[in-house]
Amino acid sequence: MEHPDPWPLRHLVIRTPRLELRPDDDAGLLELVEETHLGIHPPAEMPFAVAWTDADPAVIGRLSMQHYWAVRAQFTPARWDLNLLVRHEGRVIGMQGLLATEFGISREVATGSWIGMRHQRRGFGTEMRAAVLQFAFDHLGATRARSAAAAVNTASRRVSQKLGYREDGTECVVRRGKPTVNVRLVLDEPGFVRPGWTAEVEGLDACRELLGAPC
Ligand SMILES: CC(C)(COP(=O)(O)OP(=O)(O)OC[C@H]1O[C@@H](n2cnc3c(N)ncnc32)[C@H](O)[C@@H]1OP(=O)(O)O)[C@@H](O)C(=O)NCCC(=O)NCCS
Repeated sequence: MEHPDPWPLRHLVIRTPRLELRPDDDAGLLELVEETHLGIHPPAEMPFAVAWTDADPAVIGRLSMQHYWAVRAQFTPARWDLNLLVRHEGRVIGMQGLLATEFGISREVATGSWIGMRHQRRGFGTEMRAAVLQFAFDHLGATRARSAAAAVNTASRRVSQKLGYREDGTECVVRRGKPTVNVRLVLDEPGFVRPGWTAEVEGLDACRELLGAPC
């Protein structure tokens, strides 16, 4: 009797014209930590709701690895958080997250992402988000995608705006002990402003059960 692959996500790949997105693996996470040390945002700003980049550089690498392992360990069809390492020319440049709760029923996904500061403003942020939106809408059968960004996060909000998201209210997020405004964003599939290319997806069939996304 043939047993199912215990971790089919290792064969999942999403390709765009310039980028390759794959679920996190340990070798890739080590490269991701190098990007973290090189800087993700100016120190005076805090784009993330959880201020993880403020951690002591002596331990931030280990804490990052442990965070991604914990997320992987808790992955179930009912609740998953797919952390996709983004590679450009074979090197990890950042992370594109795609998450869902009860996807088989809700058909909703949410995203979060970052790339190393030295790779920003070259269109990669838009390309990687467009990639997971195509993956979610066209391959998983999602009907809606959500995101959120600090009101002052022009880059993230601009990525969302370019891809067709509409604003969906605001909420207070405490960053570095202070109240800040987050803008919620939502994109229904028909509103997706598609790029002029189609993402290639490989290795999805074996992951469908784990993602709660039957054919
Ligand atoms: C958000 C992020 C992923 C965007 O990636 P990116 O590769 O820099 O974005 P793009 O190059 O695709 O640019 C998208 C748009 O934002 C604009 N933009 C990018 N950085 C900007 C900045 N610092 N200020 C103003 N506009 C900016 C670009 O000009 C572009 O708009 P345009 O096409 O109208 O010119 C990246 O900036 C990042 O990782 N930031 C730090 C972490 C973060 O904020 N994550 C999101 C948390 S919600």
